[in-house]
Amino acid sequence: MKFKKKIKIAIDSPAAAGAGTVAKKISNYFNLLYLDTGKIYRMLAFLKFRNNKNFKYSTIKKKMSRLKIIDLENKKLLSDKIGTIASEIARDKKIRKLVHNFQIKCAYNFPKKYNGSCLDGRDITYKIIPNAEFKFFITANVKARAIRRYKELKKLGKKITYKEVLKSIKKRDNSDYNRRISPLKKTKDSVLINTSNLTKSACFFKIKKIIEEKIKINGNI
Ligand code: C5P
Repeated sequence: MKFKKKIKIAIDSPAAAGAGTVAKKISNYFNLLYLDTGKIYRMLAFLKFRNNKNFKYSTIKKKMSRLKIIDLENKKLLSDKIGTIASEIARDKKIRKLVHNFQIKCAYNFPKKYNGSCLDGRDITYKIIPNAEFKFFITANVKARAIRRYKELKKLGKKITYKEVLKSIKKRDNSDYNRRISPLKKTKDSVLINTSNLTKSACFFKIKKIIEEKIKINGNI
């Protein structure tokens, strides 16, 4: 499928709501460049975790200037501990500015072979791609999210209990929704998708249908 006009999809969601999984599927299906923006904060969190002393603005700037999406495909970034550090450093205005530039490049200057771009995160719909053709807010109740994340982490062989996962997701929600800079929020023009009772494929088909209906109306295929 080739589009006449390129599209941009912006997705915001709280931790472990299933946004990453569906965004990846949608990107594959429509041939879009996909960026999981949380992974950038996780990558920086990993740098801090490994060498706190060297975690300086100049080091971060250098790292960001050389970053490639492929560098973010690292299983070490998926741990709960790294997620918690990520949400702490994501409150830093200077760090966000560096990450911001990388996200803008991916959203607007993707390689020509793609039909567009799809980014997911916390402030994508209103700060990174406010003019996205498609905006979604993907969420689920906190227990459903904690169970999913717990299962994912167990699959990866992490030593963690459900209670610990629930606690850290609640902590991350609190930090992401209530921070001063770039808080997580649902914009009025975002479509709300609640995945509490949706399977991964039901969620994919729901979003795919919304996109296809709109691109057909606009004659974009
Ligand atoms: O999405 P993920 O759980 O991997 O994100 C890790 C953390 O990075 C989030 O809890 C959030 O604090 C931060 N983040 C952010 N803005 C984004 C993406 C992630 O602040 N666009």
